[in-house]
Amino acid sequence: MMDEKTKVLVVDDERVVRDGCHRVLSGKGYEVATAENGKQALDILAGEPVDLILLDLKMPVMSGEEVLGITSTEYKDIPVIIITGHGTVDTAVECMKKGAYDFITKPFQIEEFLLTVTRAAEKRKLEQRAKQFEEENIRNLYDLNLEKSRLKTIINRMANGVMVTNRNLEIVLHNPALMRLMEISEKIENPAPIAKIMNDESLIDTLKQIQSGETSEGESVSQEINIGTNILRAISAPALGPDRNVVGTVTVLEDVTAFKQLDQMKSDFVNMVAHELRSPLVSIRQINSVLLEGLAGPLEEKQQDFVDRGVKKIDALLELINDLLDVAKIEAGQYVQRQVPTDIGKIIEETVSLMEARAQEQGITLTYSCQGLKPVQADPKNMEEIFNNLVSNAINYSPEGGRVTVTAQSLGEYMEIKVQDTGVGIPSEELPKIFDKFYRVKNPKTRQVIGTGLGLAIVKGVVEAHHGTIDVESIEDKGTTFRILLPVITE
Ligand SMILES: Nc1ncnc2c1ncn2[C@@H]1O[C@H](COP(=O)(O)OP(=O)(O)OP(=O)(O)O)[C@@H](O)[C@H]1O
Ligand SMILES: [Mg+2]
Repeated sequence: MMDEKTKVLVVDDERVVRDGCHRVLSGKGYEVATAENGKQALDILAGEPVDLILLDLKMPVMSGEEVLGITSTEYKDIPVIIITGHGTVDTAVECMKKGAYDFITKPFQIEEFLLTVTRAAEKRKLEQRAKQFEEENIRNLYDLNLEKSRLKTIINRMANGVMVTNRNLEIVLHNPALMRLMEISEKIENPAPIAKIMNDESLIDTLKQIQSGETSEGESVSQEINIGTNILRAISAPALGPDRNVVGTVTVLEDVTAFKQLDQMKSDFVNMVAHELRSPLVSIRQINSVLLEGLAGPLEEKQQDFVDRGVKKIDALLELINDLLDVAKIEAGQYVQRQVPTDIGKIIEETVSLMEARAQEQGITLTYSCQGLKPVQADPKNMEEIFNNLVSNAINYSPEGGRVTVTAQSLGEYMEIKVQDTGVGIPSEELPKIFDKFYRVKNPKTRQVIGTGLGLAIVKGVVEAHHGTIDVESIEDKGTTFRILLPVITE
């Protein structure tokens, strides 16, 4: 619209004036229409869009003042410039009062004439632009409202609970599903103090942490909370303002009770089967050992070989069963039996010397270094388990010629232990999953490695039961580093 030509309607009964205006204005790029009296002018206005009117006052059929009377009500957006041969201030003022934009006196001074027309055309353009903006604004507001009501419908119909809090940790939005999950029947108006809906201390603490900016942008915190006999999974994240500052929190709650029960049943079942299998397997192993030792009579070489292979398979099965039982104990919080001041350096040394033969067999250099270590309050058997798992992973998942290094050093109130390898590495998208039970990375280079995916789940469980942390860094085809922090005995 802005690029279109400005259309001027020249209304004057004197032909020379009409022709003169037409010539000058066309020359300046205006589109020009002409009328020789008021009636003609109104016909044109009724039929086509006009941006600006130049209007003579004294005309036959219908005078300029009459036309002005009509345009100032019906076409009030179109600026009117009065052309007058009787250029008295009085007439001009009179016309301006009736809504004319300006006036010019005949005969025209070209410069002045053009200046007046340009100004009026600019005014018209500006007004049109303002109007357009206003219309757009109204449209946007309408769209926004529509979007808001759509969003509201979605949130209200969701099966998951939604809770949004503001800066003061007051609830400003909640949906019917939340009230159902929280077992609240009364109606609650927003904003409401959080305690009216939520009493779970751990979730409120999480929201406070998010509110104070302690979590990073895009991070969400997942936790389980108990409401009555139900277990809910709450996922909370910061609500960000326009300049990406935290203006509140958003929590989505899902009922995971049935899922948890199923999970528990599955664990109980695995546990029971593992238990039931272990005793007979141990007996079979013992009987086979007796056979191998020749206590039931000498064995021929072939017999010896078969029984030997059988024992190895039984050992692998027993290892799996023990792992399963360990995981079950960790999950039940019964794994760490007795914690005593433990020399971690010694345990590392022993693990490394036990593993040395295996490393050599696979062409891997295994070294360790421990410096100035303080004792750690720990269960020595558990600690052995950690290093066994990490070092055997490092050896298993490294190609021939690789290096595996175990280091331990003091780090203030902690001891930092690293198990580093130059192996196949782990793709970054797999890293968050490797500590899950039964999770194994599918990698053609390590397909031949036999395992159940329980090792790291046990390691993590043990570390956490000792109030420590474990993390991992890895670059594919370069290597992997597991890093454990364990609190040392200070006093
Ligand atoms: N040092 C490592 N380098 C590369 N990948 C590793 C390393 N350690 C672990 N992984 C990957 O993580 C997965 C999980 O390890 P985890 O020790 O839990 O199970 P596993 O070794 O497969 O079986 P097991 O229960 O017998 O230990 C492995 O299957 C492997 O893909
Ligand atoms: Mg392993």
